[in-house]
Amino acid sequence: MNRLSPSFSADFDDVNQEIVLTGRMRPRSPDEMRGVTDLVRRSLDGSSATVYVNVKRLTHMNMTAFRCLANVLAGACAENPGRMIVIVTSSVITWSAPLFKTLAADQPNLSVEIYDSAFYPGQTFVEDESFIPILRTQTKMTWRHEREILPRHGLREGLTVADICCGIGDFATLIKRHFNPARLVALDHSRKSLEYARRVAADFGLNSIEYTYGDASQMLLADNQFDFVTCRHSLQIFNRPDILLRELYRICKPGGRVYITNEKNSHCLGEPHSETIRWTYEQVARLFSHFDMDVEMGPKSRRLLNDAGFDAIQVESFMVTNLDGDPRDFADVIEAWENVYAGQMAVRRGDPPDFIRRFRQGFRDHVLAALHPKGYAGWPIWAASGRKPY
Ligand SMILES: C[S@@+](CC[C@H](N)C(=O)[O-])C[C@H]1O[C@@H](n2cnc3c(N)ncnc32)[C@H](O)[C@@H]1O
Repeated sequence: MNRLSPSFSADFDDVNQEIVLTGRMRPRSPDEMRGVTDLVRRSLDGSSATVYVNVKRLTHMNMTAFRCLANVLAGACAENPGRMIVIVTSSVITWSAPLFKTLAADQPNLSVEIYDSAFYPGQTFVEDESFIPILRTQTKMTWRHEREILPRHGLREGLTVADICCGIGDFATLIKRHFNPARLVALDHSRKSLEYARRVAADFGLNSIEYTYGDASQMLLADNQFDFVTCRHSLQIFNRPDILLRELYRICKPGGRVYITNEKNSHCLGEPHSETIRWTYEQVARLFSHFDMDVEMGPKSRRLLNDAGFDAIQVESFMVTNLDGDPRDFADVIEAWENVYAGQMAVRRGDPPDFIRRFRQGFRDHVLAALHPKGYAGWPIWAASGRKPY
């Protein structure tokens, strides 16, 4: 990395024709920008076709820096109209895209791309408002198990904790109330879910949870700062869980632990009507896989943590059932799944009405099993954690 000041750096990756600018770029004079502008000019001069300028982790930029960069880029556009310059930015840094778009407005061969507006196939479903009922009902059911499980994985009072892909923040509020962490960051990439989370936290008078909009696969959080990092039901909805795990590892302190939960949907079960239920959940696994998500990930947790460099790995599984409290709560989870999986995802995949009818039937039979006075309904989950080596 070419650190050009204590607070910012610039680099060129000639394999990908990518200029990477990172940090807080707040020079007091154009002189302090010379290293950056020289590198950008040299990199552009030596490249043809398309050059990418990656500003995904350029968190701050003052007008002195912007003017210097804009001059070099505009000059390069005029000199070589056949070469495309693509500025790749992120929705997480709110000022960035609007500012760079002002530059693109005058340059036909310069464009701005917001990389995290459509960066993996299942993103639109899980970030949508209609996913909120799923998250709300699920955590209500899993907490009674996880409350007992978490201390076995090292969670105790007074730790610094991050819940990555926090959804509507209900898990974070439970952590706050039951484990009273010294610091609690909860990060997600759904603005709708975070709005909901902030509202719930305010209703409960919990004002110390740091709800943060961000991309879990490219976080702006610093290295080595959390004792305990959680990421629940979320590695399984990423097409590249290894990238996400690398980030969880990075922000965890040496000696700290990363705790993940994942499902194996095809193992959801119920009696009576075990056959229709089994068929439907096998289809759930296939449906998610169509959108590049692996809801069969649970038993793979040990391998994933191992491959990511963790040691002292612990894995356990638990079954959420209709006998855990009010069976209606279990039925609510299944109805929320049916609405999104059959009502939206199968429709988006283009499934015919006959398939959707049969698909829905398995969820309805699962609800019936949950509410039947002699019935049994289950949803298996794998909880695993690994320690970041010292
Ligand atoms: C299945 S939900 C799980 C939410 C929560 N952990 C829970 O168990 O209730 C997955 C969450 O990941 C979030 N998410 C998806 N892509 C993300 C990304 N790139 N960065 C941060 N969060 C993301 C979604 O917005 C969603 O809230």
